[in-house]
Amino acid sequence: MRISVPLPLAAIALAAITFVFQTSARAQVAATPPMGWNSWNYFAEKVTDKDIRDSADQIVSGGMKDAGYIYVNIDDTWEGERDASGVLHTNTKFPDMKALADYVHSKGLKLGIYSGPGPKTCAGYAGSLGHEEQDAKMYADWGIDYLKYDLCSFIPEVMEKQAPNDKAAQMRLMVAAYDKMGKALKATGRPIVYSLCQYGWDNVWEWAPALGGNLWRTTGDIQARWQSIYDLMSEQVGLASYAGPGHWNDPDMLEVGNGKLSLAENRTHFSMWSMLAAPLLAGNDLPHMKPEIHAILTNRDVIAIDQDPLGHEARHIYSKGEVEVWARDLKNGAKAIAIVNAGSDVYSTHPFHLDLTQLGLHGPQHAKNLWTGKEMDLTNNMPIELPSHDVLLLRIANPK
Ligand code: GLA
Repeated sequence: MRISVPLPLAAIALAAITFVFQTSARAQVAATPPMGWNSWNYFAEKVTDKDIRDSADQIVSGGMKDAGYIYVNIDDTWEGERDASGVLHTNTKFPDMKALADYVHSKGLKLGIYSGPGPKTCAGYAGSLGHEEQDAKMYADWGIDYLKYDLCSFIPEVMEKQAPNDKAAQMRLMVAAYDKMGKALKATGRPIVYSLCQYGWDNVWEWAPALGGNLWRTTGDIQARWQSIYDLMSEQVGLASYAGPGHWNDPDMLEVGNGKLSLAENRTHFSMWSMLAAPLLAGNDLPHMKPEIHAILTNRDVIAIDQDPLGHEARHIYSKGEVEVWARDLKNGAKAIAIVNAGSDVYSTHPFHLDLTQLGLHGPQHAKNLWTGKEMDLTNNMPIELPSHDVLLLRIANPK
């Protein structure tokens, strides 16, 4: 006997199956914080197709891919002009985006791109306003795997023009703009990581996951200097409960290896971004990085903290003077602890006594120092000497 399904029912069933498929495909992306590299922090507006290929090559040959770095993300300044049909073309720095995506994919990596909801991007190139579906479809056709969507000109050109002096209405316009691109990405059926870049406005962590956001910037732009790194990490206090598999707080991309950061500062930056379950998007000149920077970026023990499947972002537990203690819970009952000397005297060390009870620990503990690889015993109130801006990053496998 043939059972004939009425057409509307079949259509509903098909729509339901498509929805479930797309939702689960989206849930699969960013199950742990995305790892990769982004062009902005080093190349800024100078980035070219060749820089992206060279970086992809280096990620593979230098072992970063094996350490978990998968996304190769083009930031602002790839955009050209729209043609009469509204199709956005690349500029001369990126002659063939599909070919570039194929190249990056052939290395077993994924390609990310950048746009924004306004008429222009932050660097003044074409944004997606009025072309959201068209752009999302084009990204999917190219084989794009990640979109960073940056607010910028949407503020003066849409929010302030359409709702002058009405902050609440401006915020509604902003949320709607991110929702629009979230839906457009979803409609492509391709799993594309959706990164919201609007600097933490309107408590983005509260509404971004519902729009399909996989990560959202919580702050303004990072700079390659200690004060910026310290300020951004401090601004994460109170946000831990919003992070989890598929949706992450983003204190901005890494500056490890950039500017004049000392080795201690690079270590602390990488340690704290890992403690914070932050996306680990390197932003340095990969083909020319020094071995000690490569060693920081590929420290497997530290990366494992960032990528812990529970996705429990670290919390600030207590401070004593300028020394801060942060902790996060890891799978199988393990715990990670970061002790940071935020003091500014470059030559001094701080006599600091570690209070285990404030960490919920009772009696001596056995830990691994994740930067030296050495095992050590911790006792309550033990003195710890920490050079300025350095970190002691510990993993306790069996906390008591
Ligand atoms: C903003 C973002 C940066 C970068 C630039 C590009 O400042 O916050 O991360 O994408 O725009 O123009």
